[in-house]
Amino acid sequence: MWKPPQRIKYQTAVAHWPTKDTVGRAELFSPINLGSIELQQRTWIPAMVPWRSNEAGEVTQDVIDWYARFAQGKPGAIVVEATGIRDIPSGPLLRISDDRYIEGLRRLVEAVREASGGQTRLLIQLIDFLNIRRRPEPQKYFERFLIITPEHRAALNLQNASEVEVRQALASLSDDDLENILTAREWDALQFGARDRVTDLGNRLVADLPQTLPPLFARAAMRAKNAGFDGVELHYAHAYTMSSFLSATNTRTDGYGGEVEGRVRLPLEVFAAVRASVGADYTVGCRFLSEEIINEGSGTDDACFFAKAFAEAGMDFLSLSRGGKFDDAKQPRVGAAAYPYTGQSGYECMPAYLSDEQGPWGRNVEPVAKIRTSIREAGFTTPIVTAGGIYSFDQAESLLSDQKADIVGFARQALADPDWFEKVRAGRGSEVILCRYSNYCEGLDQKHKQVTCELWDREKLNEEGVILATDGKRRLTAPNWMPGSAR
Ligand SMILES: Cc1cc2nc3c(=O)[nH]c(=O)nc-3n(C[C@H](O)[C@H](O)[C@H](O)COP(=O)(O)O)c2cc1C
Ligand code: SF4
Repeated sequence: MWKPPQRIKYQTAVAHWPTKDTVGRAELFSPINLGSIELQQRTWIPAMVPWRSNEAGEVTQDVIDWYARFAQGKPGAIVVEATGIRDIPSGPLLRISDDRYIEGLRRLVEAVREASGGQTRLLIQLIDFLNIRRRPEPQKYFERFLIITPEHRAALNLQNASEVEVRQALASLSDDDLENILTAREWDALQFGARDRVTDLGNRLVADLPQTLPPLFARAAMRAKNAGFDGVELHYAHAYTMSSFLSATNTRTDGYGGEVEGRVRLPLEVFAAVRASVGADYTVGCRFLSEEIINEGSGTDDACFFAKAFAEAGMDFLSLSRGGKFDDAKQPRVGAAAYPYTGQSGYECMPAYLSDEQGPWGRNVEPVAKIRTSIREAGFTTPIVTAGGIYSFDQAESLLSDQKADIVGFARQALADPDWFEKVRAGRGSEVILCRYSNYCEGLDQKHKQVTCELWDREKLNEEGVILATDGKRRLTAPNWMPGSAR
């Protein structure tokens, strides 16, 4: 992952944890309504893909164990990882793309209900993403993938040569020459792997997204409701389709791009279809970006506009993330696909302990506070979920008392210690195991390996019932907490 050039090292530490008494009065542990449901506390575990599903996209026992372990800590809400809405092979990504998935998802809902004693609300994040290919071997790219055009022939002065000869000529060129001859898209496909963009109006499937996506999201949301989830989160963040519609880089000319009004149109139409399908009393919100952190990308002013539009349309919550784009991703090795969390925008999404003067904690706080203020000034009371480098009670509580957010997201901190919520509530904050923001977990995610935390995955491997990762070395869930000690 990209790191700020300053490379300043930060260490997570908490000087003071609250007593049980203080916690009893804390806003963080007070209830809040999210549409028709109530969260018992304002704590939230944002979506995190742990790669526990299988090639069929099913809920496996590992998926159930993963979420049940988080539920033992009894946070206010857990959002199940990005789950695919299209019934197509998607590697081991969890899917909700057909009714056959409902039964497994229902078992997941029941497991979380049981493990949390009914105290944790469970939502699921619905995702659509566009085609992306692995970075090709140059030889193969020129032999098979590149479509030979008259422009290539003209540049090579090979107007009358056979296609095979043109391909061979291209394959023999230096990178400098190739960069001059290939279009920017062809060069990008060679360097990073071909990737569809929402602006590819010449591609029928992409052009038709405004027609195809609303019913796909609507049916997926209905399945979530039938499986017993308390709500759905529409994934409008990071590098995926809906976020790309919101992006300032979306120059579509069919009414679904350009100015903010055009860019927000499909996200609103998707929401309208979802709402029509699940009804007014079902909790529906979205996750989108406070800032894209890419050249020419959307900033907080755009996000304020989108937030007002979503609130006005009747979303029940707005969860704000940051960055995580393909646009500045690092070049993958040949045979691998680009990963959207490797550039600066990826760093802003999951800031790590090597940072700049600002440090890795709470980098999303001020942009989100600005968005919250803008919708409050417009008269909307929609709850705002913030996240990014939050690990201590004081940090979380002051965000709420300063009215910078309504709900606080703990992603990696909950991964490092799923019992954070119960420990702090019991006045046992000193037993919390603090996330180091090492991004070891994110490195595993990048390789689509089962995600674990370096702080516990080699601990107590002999404990009864421990399930190991496929590498045979790491446990898949955090050890159980024994009050009186950290674990
Ligand atoms: C392993 C891993 C997987 C993630 N998967 C998702 C995801 O599926 N959807 C999403 O919106 N964010 C995802 N994120 C981002 C987190 O939800 C969160 O926004 C980010 O980690 C910053 O919050 P934190 O500092 O509390 O960890 C993921 C993060 C990690 C570490
Ligand atoms: S591996 Fe553990 S300590 Fe490191 S960032 Fe992830 S959750 Fe935090």
